[in-house]
Order: sequence, then C-alpha cells, then structure tokens
Amino acid sequence: MNGIIDPPAGRPPPVDIDALLAQLTLPEKISLLAGADWWTTTPIPRLSIPSLKFSDGPNGARGAQFHAGTKAACFPAAVSLAATFCGNTAFRVGVALSREAKTKGASVLLAPTVCMHRDPRGGRNFEAFSEDPFLAGTLAYWYILGLQWSGRVGASLKHFALNEEDTFRYTMDVRVDERTLRELYLRPFEIAVKEARPWCVMTSYNLVGGMHADEHKGLLEDVLRKEWGFKGVVLSDWGGTNSTAASLAAGMDLEMPGPSLQRKVADVIKALETAEAGLTEEMINTSAKRVLEMVHRAGKFADPTIPDERAHDLPETRELIRQVSADGMVLLRNEHNILPLSTKNPGIKSVALIGMAKEYLGHGGGSAKVNSHRRITPFDAITELLADADVKISYVEGARIIRNLPVLSHSIVDEAGNPGLTVRVSLPTRAEDDPLIYTSPSATFVSREHRTATRVVLTGTFTPAVTGRHYISFTTVGNSTVKIDGRVVFQARGAAPDVMAYMLSTAEDEVARHDFVAGRRYAIEIEALPALGAGVSVFAQGVIGVTLGFMEQEERDVVLLPDAEAAAEQADVSIVFVGHTPTWETEGCDRPSMNLPKDGSLDRLIGSVAVAARRTRGEEKKVIVVNSTGSPIAMPWIDDVDAVLQTWFPGQEAGYAIADVLFGRVSPGGKLPITFPRSIEVAPTYGNFPGDLDKRIVNYEEGVFMGYRHYIDHPDDVLYPFGYGLSYTTFEIADIRLVDTNTTRGDASSTIRVTARVTNTGRMSGAEVVQVYVGAVNPSLSRPKKELAGFSKARLAPGESMEVRVWFRARALSYWNVAKHKWSVDAGEYVLFVGNSSVSVLETLAFTVGQSFDIEV
Ligand code: BGC
Repeated sequence: MNGIIDPPAGRPPPVDIDALLAQLTLPEKISLLAGADWWTTTPIPRLSIPSLKFSDGPNGARGAQFHAGTKAACFPAAVSLAATFCGNTAFRVGVALSREAKTKGASVLLAPTVCMHRDPRGGRNFEAFSEDPFLAGTLAYWYILGLQWSGRVGASLKHFALNEEDTFRYTMDVRVDERTLRELYLRPFEIAVKEARPWCVMTSYNLVGGMHADEHKGLLEDVLRKEWGFKGVVLSDWGGTNSTAASLAAGMDLEMPGPSLQRKVADVIKALETAEAGLTEEMINTSAKRVLEMVHRAGKFADPTIPDERAHDLPETRELIRQVSADGMVLLRNEHNILPLSTKNPGIKSVALIGMAKEYLGHGGGSAKVNSHRRITPFDAITELLADADVKISYVEGARIIRNLPVLSHSIVDEAGNPGLTVRVSLPTRAEDDPLIYTSPSATFVSREHRTATRVVLTGTFTPAVTGRHYISFTTVGNSTVKIDGRVVFQARGAAPDVMAYMLSTAEDEVARHDFVAGRRYAIEIEALPALGAGVSVFAQGVIGVTLGFMEQEERDVVLLPDAEAAAEQADVSIVFVGHTPTWETEGCDRPSMNLPKDGSLDRLIGSVAVAARRTRGEEKKVIVVNSTGSPIAMPWIDDVDAVLQTWFPGQEAGYAIADVLFGRVSPGGKLPITFPRSIEVAPTYGNFPGDLDKRIVNYEEGVFMGYRHYIDHPDDVLYPFGYGLSYTTFEIADIRLVDTNTTRGDASSTIRVTARVTNTGRMSGAEVVQVYVGAVNPSLSRPKKELAGFSKARLAPGESMEVRVWFRARALSYWNVAKHKWSVDAGEYVLFVGNSSVSVLETLAFTVGQSFDIEV
C-alpha cells in the first residue's frame, strides 16, 4: 500500500474551556446544543467561539451538497473493507478520508457505520461492515484510528443503536433480548469506543425497546459513557431528535441539523423550569462543555476558518482505492480456473460485455453517496486494458432495471418560454400575491432553504418528442398534487414516513401511464403544501417536497434480451455485469427481496446468456458473472455459470479494479464478511424483517443465532459461507499451534495465541486469511458453535512463506451473563477452529479453562 502518512498535528494550543463556559449565558449554552445550519455547530461570536463542520460519510467526504456537490474521492464501501480482513487497509483508508474531509472543510466525518448486516435485505448494509461484531468492531477500530490520526479530524460512529433496517426507520421499535444486544449489536460499538475513542457517536432514528435512541438514558449514559468511558459528543441523526427535555436529560448533546427544532432556547428554559424529564442546568453545562471540547479538539479556536470545499483528486488516493477494491473482491466460483482471463497463448479473441458494464457501480445510495472524482466503468477499463490486444469487444445492455424514473427536465418550458418550470414560493415574509418567483431546470422542489414556505407551485408546459403511453412518476414529502392539462394525475395527503429519504432521492416513486402526442403542449401544474400537524414528525413539519418523473414508453419497455443472447453466442467469453445502482441499495428503504432487480430481469439475463453460450460452446460455455452489490443476492443461475466475482461497491476506480482481477493483474484478496444463503426463506431473520409494519415493531427473535452463528448448524442452506473466498494462487496453512494459553489465570487479562505458517504454493502473488473461531464444548447456555475470535492476513509472493500470529483476550470466550450483568467465562473445555473460512477448518485446538471467572463491563 502506498501513501505517505503525515505525522499527527499535535494538540491545539490550550483553551480554558471551563473559564469560557463560565462566561456563557444560559441561552448561549443552549444554543451550542443544536447545529447552526445543516452541517455546522453554532458559533458564539461574542466570545470568539467558532463552529465546526460535519460531513458525510463512510466511503467519502461528500461535503454540504447531497447531489452534484464538490467532487470527492469515493472509497470502497465498508462491506468491501471488511472483506479485506485487513486492519492496516482500513487504517490507510481512514487516513486518506481525513485528508478528504479537510478538502471539504469538515472536522468530523459522519462515519463509520457499525450496525450489523442482520438480514440480506437491509438497505444500508453496504455502508456497514459485517454480520460479525468482532470483524465490524475491529475494522472500525482501524478505520477510526486512521481517520483521527491527524488529530484534527474526528469520527462519528453511527447509528447507536440497532439501526439494522431502513423501513419506517424513524418509527420502528426494535425489541431484542439483553444478551443478544450485548453480544452482537453493541459489540462493534463497544470495541470502537473503548479502543479507538471516536470523537462522536450518532444516535439512530429507531426506538429501542419502546424508547427513541436519542432519549435512551440506559444506552447513552449507562452503557456508552459509564461502562465504556465515552468522553465525546453524542449527536442525533439528522432530524432524529425526538424531544426537548428527554433527549437532553439522556445525555444526547447535540441536535442536528440546525437551526434547532427541539432545542429552541425558550423551550429548553421552560423545560428547565419544570424540571421536565429531570432536566437540570448541570446537564446543559455538561453537554455544552462537550461541544466546546470537540470544537477545540478540531483546532477551531486556533483557526476558526471553515475553508471552502475543493476537489482534490490525488494519484496516490486513486491508487489506494484501486488496490483496496481488488483486495476486498471475493472470488466465489471459478470452475476450471476460467479466471483470470488471458489474451495470450492462445488466449481469448473475443469478449462480450453484457449487462451493467457501462454503469459505474462504485457506491450505494443515500448519505453515503458522493460525487466521485472518477466513475470508472468496467467497459471503459476493459476497453483500455485490451486496447493493444487482438481481442474483439462487444457490448449489449441486455436488461434495464430502472427503479425511480428520472426527474422530468427536458422538453419543459416555464411561463416565459425558458427551459424549466416557473416556481412560485409563498413565504410568510411576503404578501400572498407576491411569491418568490424563479425558474427551476427540472420538475422538482424541496424546501430545505425555504422551510417557512406555505405553498409552492411549479408551472409550465411539456412538449413530448414522441407519441406514446409514457411513464410518469411522483415522489413527495406529502400534501401535493400534480395536474396535466388541469387533470389530477397524482395526489398525496399527509406526510411521507421518511422525509430524509425524499431529500436523498431514495424514496420510492408512484408510477402511472399517460397518453402523450408528439409536439402537443401539455400544461403542467404541481402544487405542494407543507406537511403540518399531529402525526407529522417535528423534522417533517413544514417541509415541502415534490418531484415529477418521466420516461418514454420505448425507453422503459425496450426488449434487450435477444441481443444479449446473440452476443453470448458469438464471443469466446461472456462477462455479465450485474448489481445495484444507488437507487436499489440505499438508505431510506430496504430491498423487497434478495433477488437482483428488477422483477427477475437480471436473473433472466444471466440464465439466458448461459443457455446461449452453451449452445455454441457446450460445457465450455465461459460465462462469468461480476456482481456489484453490498449484500448477498440469490443466485438461481449459479450452476450454469463458470465464475462469479463479488466486487461489492468498490469506489471510484471500480472498473479498473474489476479489470485488474478479471485479467489477472492481481489476485482477488477478499473473504466474505457475510454469509450468502441459498435463498431469503432460509435466513434466520425471515419473517422478522423488516418486522410488523402495522405495529411498527421488529423482534430480533433469532437472538444470538444471526448470520453464520445460525448457518453453522444449517450448512445446506448456505451457498457461500462467512469467511470464504477463492484465490488465483494456492496456499498451505501448516504448523498450526496454540501457544501461551494462560486462560487458567482466571482473569480478563488472559490471552490466547495461535500461530500458523502460511506458504504461497501457487504461481501468483496473493493473500490468504487465517481465521480463528472459538466454541465452548459443553456450554452452560445455548451458544453458537463457533464465533470469530481473531484473524490475520498473509500477503505472499509465489513460494514465499510466513508465520502469522492471531492473539485474543479471554473476552472472546465469554458470554453476556444477564443475571450478573457481566461477561462470564465458564470453566470447561473450549475448541479453536483454525482455517480459511467459517466452515473450512484445518485444525482444531482444544484447551481447558480451569476455573470460571467474570469480566467487569
Ligand atoms: C443518515 C445519517 C447521515 C445523515 C446526514 C441521515 O439520514 O441516517 O447516516 O449521516 O443523514 O446526511
């Protein structure tokens, strides 16, 4: 890995925070407890208190704009980092991200996300690491260490806690038993908080056992601060502050974004006067102090400027992203060693690139989306790579998988005849007949800036170029009507459940058909009123938003499959690119199924290509599938294809990294950080995801038997197990030894060490991950047979050999003892399973713990 790591900046010049606090009035202190605007904390010029800026997110520093903002480096998603099973890699990415944050003027990156991949359909799985809490916590630890290395940029670990799904994320109540909560869902937070000390922790939108996470004193004060010693700032997710007094009393320091909705000075003072929810001035002081300490830590007192955002496209960052991407790619299947492809001796003479080859599938959707510096597609990269080779490249799209229609932005003119639509915004500051008027280039509006608007109307005419029964679509935050030629075509009343999803363009649209005649002028009128009143969340109150989408019938209904079959018949090799665009795997919603989109079309594409290829090439059909998703997919076609490469969302260099792997420039280095089950029906969460939507409750009924902890007892349900991944080279793992087991010492400081010799016995450089799982032989309570306790990655040239060491603490043997409220290690026999996946065990090592002991929280 390249990239020079600058030395840390050292501590900023001292500032007497207590003295400063003593000079602040109560209203000033309260003002510190909410953002000034969407991304910054509140400054207090009277005392030269500066503010700092936050930025999303986990795989790139996006800056202030959700869409088309300042360009930024797009790194592999967290699931891809987890697949590298390499702490050093996560550290390097963290360091590079802190540089990126600085280019956006940001002092805190809203990352990493350490929630669990509980179910394959989780919309945000891609931005989280794994189904295993130890792997997630360990990678997050290294990532935070890197991110905070400079001393001037901090991490905001999120979303605390139990944000494993996005359906009705503001209102779902998660029910989980205490042991499962501790062993699985809090564990990555615990590791990251205790070991890496992130500057901030962001609460989740959901409720935990009937209480909103931002008001959950048990989680925020008792667990996070008292037990784990967290000293930083707890901030709300954007719009996730659910009360005035309760969230403050629970120790949730900072409401974001601002200006405040729940912490208006008068409201907080009133709550103090009545001691609502036990709120005291002391609590205000404590939270204000934490915010000031964070601002100081970022060096803002010494240099209060928040620099303008800039795009900084560094060659070394490109190279790092390209390397990490390939290092996280998992080769799932490689029959007859069809990969890597060779263009020499005799090599392939023609290749068909089918499906999403021209799509840049570098990142998922929502707040993790960045305007990538580069958007390298597989088609571009492979064409470049084969420029001098005697190989014919063909491309066919094969299937179309549109989720939301594009916003109507062509063939529209406003009332003055200019491109776009006329927008009239009624504001309380202006007379009723004097709205703010301007032209919008497209048929969309969101009232982020004009939050006080009372009505918005978009008008103009649309003149279609083609006659047809075209598709139109509608998304809104509520209370809008769309009319075409005076006739209502869409209408919504009340508020949408997820305002942020609308703002992030991830809300699902409503689609209808409409007859249009080419060249005729159609009057468009879109009226939107704010969502107000009871039943509308504080964050959604007053927001106006509406979007009209459009797509020509031809474009959407086009039949593409026959061309793909013809291409597959003619080429030596067919590579089918499939996956999720940012609208399919995204914040704001979960996936409706585990299948590729849409309505089976990509599955049909792969199946048909395989049949066509077999027609001309027989069993040597040479069909390769490259899948870019952040979570498992069903593979009904798996037996009909020769190879499958799981790329995840690899970031801006996606195409190059994919080409590197397909054509053998590097060996894929990843192992699965999640299980790929055969179907969604066999998942332990099936029936309990996303939960009871009427009652808005989800029960984590599978308990601790989630992910491979469940599948280990159901091997037939698994297509590819946790920890699995092939390589282009071969390895021998030998001399596996248990050294230095001092668990008999009977305390938490006991450590267990395993060593092994790994040799690259093949002909290419590559990497192998030695994985150590632990299980109790006769546990006193029902426990998973194996749990990941440690791992170590060996990167080796052909013939090279090295000793790897995996060591871990006795905590890895423990379970959460509900009665004692402690971690307990029972006396008895334990087994270590050492191998290169959760099921491929090369050696079992038994040892005995002589006497039971507990580990304090
Ligand atoms: C997301 C957070 C994100 C925030 C700011 C929220 O909708 O849940 O992860 O950091 O928006 O964009």
